[in-house]
Amino acid sequence: MNLIKSKKNLVLIGMMGSGKTHLGANLAKKLEYKFYDTDHLIENQTNLNISKIFNDFGEKYFRDLEEKITLDVLKKKNSVISLGGGGYLSNEIRKFTKLSCFTVWLKWNSKTLIDRVKRNKNRPIISNMNNLEIKKLIEKRAKIYSQSNIKINCEGKSKKNIVNRIIELYEKL
Ligand code: S3P
Repeated sequence: MNLIKSKKNLVLIGMMGSGKTHLGANLAKKLEYKFYDTDHLIENQTNLNISKIFNDFGEKYFRDLEEKITLDVLKKKNSVISLGGGGYLSNEIRKFTKLSCFTVWLKWNSKTLIDRVKRNKNRPIISNMNNLEIKKLIEKRAKIYSQSNIKINCEGKSKKNIVNRIIELYEKL
């Protein structure tokens, strides 16, 4: 009989450009966990990229699919899961993660995030926004992201440092 109780999944949340995919993959490697990125799962399942889904089917279609795919993947064991920037805004996803996951918000300054997201074309949510509008979106979402278990102030920290800090906190669970 296996009496080892597995830990909660480690879930990364935060704005676009906060490094969830890259840091998530690193965390999974260190923890010897599986890694899932919900945007990648959506793209693989639809065979379309995120922008194309938004353009052709609209945001509601994307959010419904995102919610379904995210709730499914959150139920796996021994996994690090990076959520799309809007995933944690879903009441269902938030409710599930609060009960069953260890959720980490990767927090960066607005300026850093704006500089990063402006360089990437596959981000339909902000493609028509100016910097002030993006800043307001970041501030609005911060109120929701702050419901995570822990917040990491990433500004000025190396990737290695961020990963080690998350692992340190996760291992205390
Ligand atoms: C979104 C973030 C994106 C992607 C989609 C919508 C958002 O994911 O899910 O473009 O609403 O913040 P990343 O945070 O991985 O870029």
